[in-house]
Amino acid sequence: MIMNAGMDLPVYSTNRVLLRQALQPDVPRTDALLAVLLGYLPGLERLEIPIESEDPPGGPPITEPNLIQRVLVSLTGALSTPNSEIGVATSAVEGNTRLPKLTHLKAEVNGDSPSADIDSLMALLRMSTLTHVFGTKWTTTQPWHRPLIADSHHLVHLELRECTFDAQNLRSLLKQAHNLQTLIYERGWTVRKDWRLKASDLIRALQETSQTLACLELSYNRFIRRIQEDLYLQPLNLSGLVHLKRLRISAGYLVQTGVKKELFEGSFWRHFDETGAYNSTLPLHQLLPKSLEQLHIFQIHDELEFTLMSNKLCESLYGRAVPILSEAHQFEHLKEIIIEAPFEDQGAYFFSTLFEVTNRAGVKLTAIENSADYIKSWVTHNSKVSCPSRDINWGFDGEIQWENPFTQRGEVRYHRR
Ligand SMILES: *[C@@H]1O[C@H](CO)[C@@H](O)[C@H](O)[C@H]1NC(C)=O
Ligand SMILES: *[C@@H]1O[C@H](CO)[C@@H](O)[C@H](O)[C@H]1NC(C)=O
Repeated sequence: MIMNAGMDLPVYSTNRVLLRQALQPDVPRTDALLAVLLGYLPGLERLEIPIESEDPPGGPPITEPNLIQRVLVSLTGALSTPNSEIGVATSAVEGNTRLPKLTHLKAEVNGDSPSADIDSLMALLRMSTLTHVFGTKWTTTQPWHRPLIADSHHLVHLELRECTFDAQNLRSLLKQAHNLQTLIYERGWTVRKDWRLKASDLIRALQETSQTLACLELSYNRFIRRIQEDLYLQPLNLSGLVHLKRLRISAGYLVQTGVKKELFEGSFWRHFDETGAYNSTLPLHQLLPKSLEQLHIFQIHDELEFTLMSNKLCESLYGRAVPILSEAHQFEHLKEIIIEAPFEDQGAYFFSTLFEVTNRAGVKLTAIENSADYIKSWVTHNSKVSCPSRDINWGFDGEIQWENPFTQRGEVRYHRR
């Protein structure tokens, strides 16, 4: 009976062979049973699937690509590129008839050395009904060019955590999403520690979303593999994202400290990104979109980074605070600035200058105390042994709950000196 149910599914012929093999033994494989089940859940709206692979990072694929993923892609009519890991699109299935209501998909890569590639992610993104896609630990494993096949017209929310992509593939990914309104890109896990993405290339990729993007988070996560965020985050010129209203961003994407520049000496000199560093001398209102209404700054590395950022914010708000000096287009739509820092009970003193300027400029300043994220606070210098991990829900405001929330904190941040 199960075999018949499986063989009735409209899957590509290569996948049918795999499915038959997996269902054949006396005790069929669990993943095969699940794959078949997916074909008979027409009311399913949200799906959370683990993507597992035992292939060694960097090596050639040895294991079979995930059967559930293959069947899912077939069932939903998301065409795959020829020769991709997912399978060969021999019998193109039109439309998504088996899972017509599936709008939310979370694909979480399991394991400490994932090799789940952006290629498979792009295949999943092509499911025509999807509006919200969430993922962790996706990366680019091979630096090659994938052909662009189909667009994700309905996709409005793309949330990628602990992911690392090279510029070209990130650009293809974003190019395929024409109606994207929210993008969360938390850089993190990578098979290559020397990963490099120039500020100018990251901007070019983000620019693909400029016609629709309203909410953007750019952050990093060094929890599992200690990425050197100093080398990763360069000041960005985001002013081309002309519809952006809400921006949540790591301070390292806004300012460049001298300490950070020194890191580029010696063996790291190859990572130095002149375009990003040069832009750091420009005032913030020239680097951020004019449409911006809410600016949320977090992941501030140290006091120097805070001071530079605070000075830059004051500089850009001065025109609004003292209207007679007003230069056109200085954060004219900005309503709120949110800053996270481990200030404990010293908030009033710590934010006094910024508070005065925002107050005069008519911009609301919200300070969020986040010392729970730090082993040692760079504001108060209070320290503790460790940070408890915490669950983070998904969505731009944590409004989307999945069975498996995202976990952060732990040894995530420390004071350097
Ligand atoms: C600022 O950076 C962008 C890329 O991020 C680059 O194209 C541009 O030339 C830089 N601006 C200046 C004045 O160098
Ligand atoms: C920043 O980007 C905008 C839009 O892409 C561009 O017009 C401007 O010249 C850039 N500024 C700098 C300093 O590169």
